[in-house]
Amino acid sequence: MRSDKQGVMPEAKTPPPLASRLSPYSRTLSVRVWRGAESGHFQEFSVPRLESQTVLDVVTYIQRGLDTTLSYRFACRVGVCGSCAMTVNGKARWTCRTHVAKVTADDRLEIAPLANLPVVRDLVTDMSLFFDKWAAAHGRFRSDKTRNDDFARVSPDSPKRKIVDEAIECIGCGVCYSSCDVVSWNPDYLGPAALNRAWTLVNDVRDTDQKARLAAVAGDAGCHACHTQMSCTERCPKQLSPTVGIAGLKRAALAAALRGEL
Ligand code: SF4
Ligand code: SF4
Ligand code: FES
Repeated sequence: MRSDKQGVMPEAKTPPPLASRLSPYSRTLSVRVWRGAESGHFQEFSVPRLESQTVLDVVTYIQRGLDTTLSYRFACRVGVCGSCAMTVNGKARWTCRTHVAKVTADDRLEIAPLANLPVVRDLVTDMSLFFDKWAAAHGRFRSDKTRNDDFARVSPDSPKRKIVDEAIECIGCGVCYSSCDVVSWNPDYLGPAALNRAWTLVNDVRDTDQKARLAAVAGDAGCHACHTQMSCTERCPKQLSPTVGIAGLKRAALAAALRGEL
């Protein structure tokens, strides 16, 4: 045995367990995938386990190689478009940035469509209601300026700009909405993503729709329905905190009510 430079013999290392020494290519994943719409069943597939494999890679392998009738949705594959969210081993996740190694210790995966949304087919949900709620929360920027006006300048150091910058990175994936128990109990609840969007606009000093927006989010199905359970914040793949924004909306709505504006 070779000694190191100081002449000290290195300690003998215990070899890792056999399972972790096997080539990833010699292991298979056992994958249960939802098939059908609201009523359906799980179908079982065997998929080769690969290094750095994402859940979206697994779904794509099944669709391209094992069953071309499997429906799923994705676009960018790099965490930008927000279209690939699914329920993976019981939790909503963006699948293109979720490594298999992170979500299974025993080579088993269960992949289902997002909860709290109607299923179109297999892993595809109908996102219409999700985006309708953004509209209901007045999630659209409105201004009294025209294209002929000069650019509005908002200092990056201003407190409101900082709030907007923290919350604006939402990619509309629906993970928070699918994880929210209040949405499950009350399908009218606007939900964390729409309220987070409203919060960015409430803090946008250029926006001119403030009173109507606060009135829209202060109703029974708005910010006051949130139970602050934080599932949205725990699961958001962009590390946003809709819970903080919703708490801000509650304060803003209360202040507007005390001013007699609601
Ligand atoms: S904090 Fe509110 S919006 Fe977020 S998951 Fe909980 S109840 Fe839903
Ligand atoms: S707040 Fe986060 S989890 Fe919710 S839609 Fe936006 S990016 Fe997705
Ligand atoms: S495919 Fe675009 S975020 Fe996953």
